[in-house]
Amino acid sequence: MKKKILKLQEEFNHRIAEIKDNEKLEKLKNEYIGRKGYITQMLKEIVTVPKEDRPEVGQLLNKVKKNIQQIIFEKEKSLAEHQEESKKIFDITIPGKNFKIGNIHPIDLILKQTQEIFLGMGFRFVDGPEIELDYYNFEGLNISKDHPARDDQDSFYITPDVLLRTQTSPMQVRTMEKQPPPVRIISTGKCYRRDSIDSTHAPMFHQIEGLAVDKDITFSDLKGVITEFCQQVFGKDRKVRFRPGYFPFVEPGAEVDVSCGLCKGKGCRSCGYTGWLEIMGAGMVHPNVLEMAGYDSEKLTGFAFGMGVERIAMLKYGINDIRLFFENDLRFLSQFK
Ligand code: PHE
Repeated sequence: MKKKILKLQEEFNHRIAEIKDNEKLEKLKNEYIGRKGYITQMLKEIVTVPKEDRPEVGQLLNKVKKNIQQIIFEKEKSLAEHQEESKKIFDITIPGKNFKIGNIHPIDLILKQTQEIFLGMGFRFVDGPEIELDYYNFEGLNISKDHPARDDQDSFYITPDVLLRTQTSPMQVRTMEKQPPPVRIISTGKCYRRDSIDSTHAPMFHQIEGLAVDKDITFSDLKGVITEFCQQVFGKDRKVRFRPGYFPFVEPGAEVDVSCGLCKGKGCRSCGYTGWLEIMGAGMVHPNVLEMAGYDSEKLTGFAFGMGVERIAMLKYGINDIRLFFENDLRFLSQFK
């Protein structure tokens, strides 16, 4: 009888190892521990065992029964888990997970596009510091300590000689100090002015600066480059005009306007009924600036331009409040692809 019990256990172990679905497991369960199963049958057979052996045989049979119950219980659990797993893998009706893909900030979009346009025209990109010396931000740009132009660019000073740059124009001076002519560079980055925040002003904003210096550079080169830039950014149908404008580091200096895209230059609310939108300052590099940087102003000429990136983005995308760029509202930011 003992042998028979042990054999039963062994046989069970083999059979359960091969079982892979619930139905077969249920059958096996019935076969062994069901009401008419082998174990029940054997319990009945105990009466045939000699009395003195009965306790031992009974104990063994009980142990085997518990064992088998336990193994079946575990198998049930593992089959259920397995089923869950395979459901997860194969249920193609479950809706997919929605991955949020970020997109590029509109300011970066303009910066990237601008760089591409100017690189395409033979300009090189240079990067410069946001914490700048007074010399590069003003003096070297022909803006002396008592120059009234400083009033337009109310600044964040760190020491009397160090400030947060108010414009990217210091990169004109830094570049010319560093390299011999010819120069063709653009530089972009953050600038800071003590402006209070409203829909068109922020104390931090971005600029794009350009500088070309060589023999025989003329105002028409400036016009050609700026017109090409504007038409690539705003569209081929846009016109560009130059009005006299004053910046201490250029002579002659100009304010550059692009024709209004809404009214096609006829005049509407968005362009103040002028047909034009102001987009940048520009001009021919002042001889003083060339000389201070160590360039010979008798032999060399150049042009420079500078523009606000937020303004370009606002005009290009029809955005009416500069604060939207800095508020990190995804409903706004996710519109730019
Ligand atoms: N730096 C000037 C500004 O911030 C713009 C400018 C750049 C004008 C280069 C002329 C030439 O207003």
